[in-house]
Parts: sequence; structure tokens; C-alpha cells
Amino acid sequence: MPQTTGTGDTMGSDRPEIEIRGLHKSFGDNHVLRGIDLDVGRGEVVCVIGPSGSGKSTLLRCVNLLEEPTSGQVFVGGTELTDPDVDIDAARRRIGMVFQQFNLFPHITVTGNLTLPQRRVLGTDKERAAAVARENLDRVGLAAKADAYPAQLSGGQQQRVAIARALSMGPDVMLFDEPTSALDPELVGEVLSVMRVLAGEGMTMMVVTHEMSFAREVADRVVFMDGGVIVEQGPAEQVVTRPRHERTRNFLDRVLDPAAVEAPAEAPAETPADGEAPPAGGQR
Ligand SMILES: Nc1ncnc2c1ncn2[C@@H]1O[C@H](COP(=O)(O)OP(=O)(O)O)[C@@H](O)[C@H]1O
Ligand SMILES: [Mg+2]
Repeated sequence: MPQTTGTGDTMGSDRPEIEIRGLHKSFGDNHVLRGIDLDVGRGEVVCVIGPSGSGKSTLLRCVNLLEEPTSGQVFVGGTELTDPDVDIDAARRRIGMVFQQFNLFPHITVTGNLTLPQRRVLGTDKERAAAVARENLDRVGLAAKADAYPAQLSGGQQQRVAIARALSMGPDVMLFDEPTSALDPELVGEVLSVMRVLAGEGMTMMVVTHEMSFAREVADRVVFMDGGVIVEQGPAEQVVTRPRHERTRNFLDRVLDPAAVEAPAEAPAETPADGEAPPAGGQR
């Protein structure tokens, strides 16, 4: 499906921003990705969902070559990252990544966290880097925290700083790997809001998330992975509310109502070995 969500035109190129072809990745004899084919159009938001261990992080990490694919091809903006002759540092600058852990430098200010990579990696001069930092802090609603240190911020604010840091490098594509999973529930919303705004501005995004309401509302497409393959994909609303595959249905049931599945699975292990009754209230 061609994407028209972006702010700008496609500048004469109809190629998807991200193209993944026949991607395999093994760690030793652990065959984690088993033939992934996926396109993400310019300005498109694709949410990747699936059980733990299904290869979602490995897929994202292969897209910016943090992991080297065992076979297959990855193109970003028409450049083949898996070409051995590619300038991988240059190619990677076009890709911003946001992790579950924010990885901010604790000993420098928020502004320093945003200017340092620009100066080191891009060679941006000090004034320009500071201006870009201000602009992106403003974008994530944290202009007032420019001089704060990470420890003075909530987890949600730190993750917004991490997003602003990635944006300060001027990426064409943003990859998010469970960006809200380490956050207290009340802080999830502010991070998702920032991501929603980015999506609205036309950023090309791949988002690994368990936030189904976000996926439904913001994603153009949802991809369900299991066992290193894409089991199904389609418009967010369809995959989340009317999945075609049994495996997708089972996964969604567990994500949407975790208590329903986890409790019985652990029950047998709770049987007291010495014949004593379990303590009242189920505490052990
Ligand atoms: N750097 C690594 N070295 C060895 N095994 C890895 C590495 N990264 C991931 N794996 C393995 O790959 C599989 C998929 O992991 P991952 O991509 O993190 O899944 P997900 O993000 O869906 O939970 C797991 O079996 C995991 O142990
Ligand atoms: Mg993961």
C-alpha cells in the first residue's frame, strides 16, 4: 500500500524507506530470524508485535546493522546497508534508535546529551548543535529541562530526552524497541504522545511495542512475529481486532489480559511439598 502520510513528497523515489529482503539471523545454532521480508514506506508507522524471544529486537537491530544479518538484504533510503562496501557510519546516521533503557550519560546535562553525539559523530559546531538540541527538546516538550541532569528527571522525561537525542541527529527513520516497557504505567502516556506527534509529522517509524491501543491508533500497519517469521500483517485495526491466525489471537489474548493466562500456568508449582496449607492470602 503506497503511503502518503509524510509531510514532503517522495522526491522522485517510489522505493520504500526501509526494505528488508530474505533476512536471516542466527546466533550460533539459534536460528532467530527465518526469512523476513518487509517494506516500510516513507512516513509509514509500522508496529511490530509478538511474544518475547520471537526476534523483534533482532529484527530492529539488523535494520541498522547493530547485528550483522546472516543472509538477506536491508535497504534504507535506497542504500543497501548489507553491501560490504557501504559506508555504514553514514548510512546509520539516517536511522535513529530508541531503546527500552534510555542510556543517557548521567554526568552531563540534558543539553549535553543532545549536543555530544552531534559534535562527535556529525562534527556539528557548538552553536549549531545547541540550537538543534533546543529545537528537539522543544519538540518533546522538555525545553525547560535543558540544564537538568538525567537523574533529576522522571523515566518518562528521560525517554523523551532519548527521543530528542535521536532526533537531533536528523534521522530519516526512527526505530523504537519497546520504548515504554521500563516505565511506570503513569509515565507511558507522555512518551506515546511524543511518538504520536512524530508519526503525525511524517516520520518513518518501526515500533516494537506491547501498547495495543497505540498500535491501533497510530500504526498504519501491524506486523505480528512469532518464531522468527512474520505470521501476519495488515492494517492495525484489522490485525489487532480481527487477527486471521490462531497464533496472533493467542498472543493478543495474553497481551490484552495477562492475568487470564499466566495464573494457571504457574499453579502446579505452588503445591506445598510438605502438606501444609498455603498461607492465607496466597503470600509466600
Ligand atoms: N546478541 C545475541 N547473542 C545471542 N543470542 C541472542 C542475541 N540477541 C538475541 N539473541 C537470541 O535471539 C532470540 C530472539 O531474541 P530477541 O530478538 O531479543 O527477541 P524479542 O525482542 O522478540 O524478545 C532469543 O532466543 C535470544 O536469546
Ligand atoms: Mg526485544
